[in-house]
Amino acid sequence: MSGLTRRQVLKGAAPVVAIAPLARLAFPSAAGAEGTGSQAAKPLVAVGHAAMMGGEAPAVGGPNDLDALLIPPPALSHEPGRVREYTLNAVDREIEIFPGVSYPAWTYSGTVPGPVIRATEGDLLRVRFGNGGSHPHTIHFHGIHPANMDGVFEIIEPGASYTYEFPARPYGMHLYHCHSSPLKKHIEKGLYGAFIIDPPTPRRPAQELVMVINGFDTDGDGENNFYTVNGRAFYYAKYPIRVKRNQTVRIYLANLTEFDVINSFHLHGEFFRYYPTGSTDHYEYTDTVMLCQGQRGILEIDFHNSGRFMFHAHQSEFTELGWMGFFEVGD
Ligand code: CU
Ligand code: CU
Repeated sequence: MSGLTRRQVLKGAAPVVAIAPLARLAFPSAAGAEGTGSQAAKPLVAVGHAAMMGGEAPAVGGPNDLDALLIPPPALSHEPGRVREYTLNAVDREIEIFPGVSYPAWTYSGTVPGPVIRATEGDLLRVRFGNGGSHPHTIHFHGIHPANMDGVFEIIEPGASYTYEFPARPYGMHLYHCHSSPLKKHIEKGLYGAFIIDPPTPRRPAQELVMVINGFDTDGDGENNFYTVNGRAFYYAKYPIRVKRNQTVRIYLANLTEFDVINSFHLHGEFFRYYPTGSTDHYEYTDTVMLCQGQRGILEIDFHNSGRFMFHAHQSEFTELGWMGFFEVGD
């Protein structure tokens, strides 16, 4: 990639031309020497981001590529003695995050974020971890568990494996990530995912979605060049998420962005109930939430109106660099 920092790139772009800076990032050879010069790469589309959806949105892949990350396995009611088993394998893998831009990721089982892990409070969670990557890794779960299951001291070398096993608690929206050092590096490279623990009696029925928001530093300067939901910039702008009016949409949201202290989620045209960490029934009724690194929660949206509604980071810069999408609300 070019040596341009994200901020240098953005400085040269008129705010309305949302995609021009991305075109430079995607095709650095076509950019001017300063990166903001006149011989910019052919813009993919030179319109404001509100108009950018469907075929106009530059995003990698087909319409259902991210379903395994977006749609969690169903919630199960409490059942004494149940074991929930998952297998995660660390794999080094190039992933394409924006058309023409790939990132040399360290992944859990091939994707960034890694697979969604879900259990019910009281289940025995058993996660078999195999390290097929080139560096020592671990899995550190948020939640309550014994010290030797914390993924900090038991470092799993390449080629080795480890089984994490503990009763899942407390209920809420959590996360898991590698805790090898340097920690920043292991998170930045992509070793993280969503970890949902359901209450013993599941939450009321809803259309459930998982959104892990993150960033990618594609030029290695310690600043993110792209921001995404579930790993691909502009993906839900190209493929809006179909939901129904008057039917609750529940989003399990986690912030795994490195480098930037804060990320956020803002919804247009509607309010939602926001349950911080999802671990109590206390909620805030709002249209914007701000999350520090590792912070997460559960959103419940009841759309009053049909049509297209945008969702994005309220940091405009993150929006222009990929963290945006749409809900298509049908009747
Ligand atoms: Cu690691
Ligand atoms: Cu953490």
